[in-house]
Amino acid sequence: MSKILVTGGLGYIGSHTVVELINAGYEPVIVDDLSNSHPKILEQITKITGKKPVFHQLDLCDDASVKNLATAEPRISGIIHFAASKAVGESVQQPLKYYRNNIYSLVNLLNVYYGKPLNFVFSSSCTVYGQPDELPVTESAPVKPAESPYGNTKQIAEEILKDTIASGANYKVIALRYFNPVGAHESALIGELPIGVPQNLVPFITQTAIGKREKITVFGDDYNTPDGSCVRDYIHVVDLAKAHVAALKLMEKESFKGYDVFNLGTGVGNSVLEVIAAFERSTGVKLNYTIGPRRSGDVEQVWGDVTKAKDQLHWQTMLDIDTMMKSAWAWEKYLSQNPL
Ligand code: NAD
Ligand code: WQD
Repeated sequence: MSKILVTGGLGYIGSHTVVELINAGYEPVIVDDLSNSHPKILEQITKITGKKPVFHQLDLCDDASVKNLATAEPRISGIIHFAASKAVGESVQQPLKYYRNNIYSLVNLLNVYYGKPLNFVFSSSCTVYGQPDELPVTESAPVKPAESPYGNTKQIAEEILKDTIASGANYKVIALRYFNPVGAHESALIGELPIGVPQNLVPFITQTAIGKREKITVFGDDYNTPDGSCVRDYIHVVDLAKAHVAALKLMEKESFKGYDVFNLGTGVGNSVLEVIAAFERSTGVKLNYTIGPRRSGDVEQVWGDVTKAKDQLHWQTMLDIDTMMKSAWAWEKYLSQNPL
């Protein structure tokens, strides 16, 4: 069985990917420092799959721990690198935390496995496109100056990976540019765990519906979009997780060389008001929402051209916006009855 190191494997996207790796016959080995997760997620993964993955609790910025990791796990065929800090607003307040955690962890990991023939998947983001000039945005669209230190770390990381490949490392690399991951596993045993007040739309919706928040504010209805609210490409986290397996499969082919990048989205945009309507329609729960001012730094609209992923990863999304909302709601209800 092929062993895959999954950094950040107890996080939101990482935990769903660990499940899909097991389903596909891989042996995931999880690395996480629990800075934005919970040890119980390992038990939840075990409940879903019937298999308990090996787990190394360590900080990827710690040189000694990462060296020990490479000694403990020499025979891996791939790495999926999710571990990073991801709160855009916090990155503006604490840029050095983000440059250290998101860049140094990557450099450390590439360093200790340098020279080994490894397939490396990197979690990038549609944030690299900023507000694209053309929609849907393709992978060849220009990378725009970053809006935040967080966004900048994704751009820098992509450059680091390209330079590492160019230096003759034995790595093959796929950077996956996620659009907006939402939803949860159908078992409702794993999902997103926002710390404090959620900044992202869907956790804010579900926390409002459950009564943790009084109301949700729609950040602006005066954009140049069909209903005036911002448009994004929301993708179910289980579809997203499956794309990581597809990326590994592509790199396992002799014909794949070097570095490539793929958009991961549905290819369809939904407005904030459409997402709220989908939540109400699919769950039967009415949401208390108001229209407020624009949030600074928001792009008006973005959705992805996902043709390249369809053609080359042989992957496409299966789950629609209603399924995304229903599963996010089931997870919120599970959490309220089973706090971690
Ligand atoms: P998450 O916070 O749920 O998961 C990240 C995991 O990494 C957490 O479990 C955390 O404890 C761990 N971690 C962080 N720093 C670490 C370190 N130094 N050493 C070891 N473990 C560490 O985030 P997520 O939503 O699952 O995102 C995963 C990746 O996808 C991130 O790289 C993120 O930037 C990227 N991404 C996320 C989104 C999104 O909207 N969720 C969108 C685009 C890209
Ligand atoms: C979606 C829409 C908000 C909350 C962020 C990062 C991006 C990527 C994904 C990692 C926007 C609106 C939100 C609320 C609202 N992450 N909204 N009321 O901003 O597209 O992207 O997460 O790489 O880098 O920037 O996602 O979920 O925050 O917002 O109206 O209470 O919902 O204005 O239009 P965003 P989001």
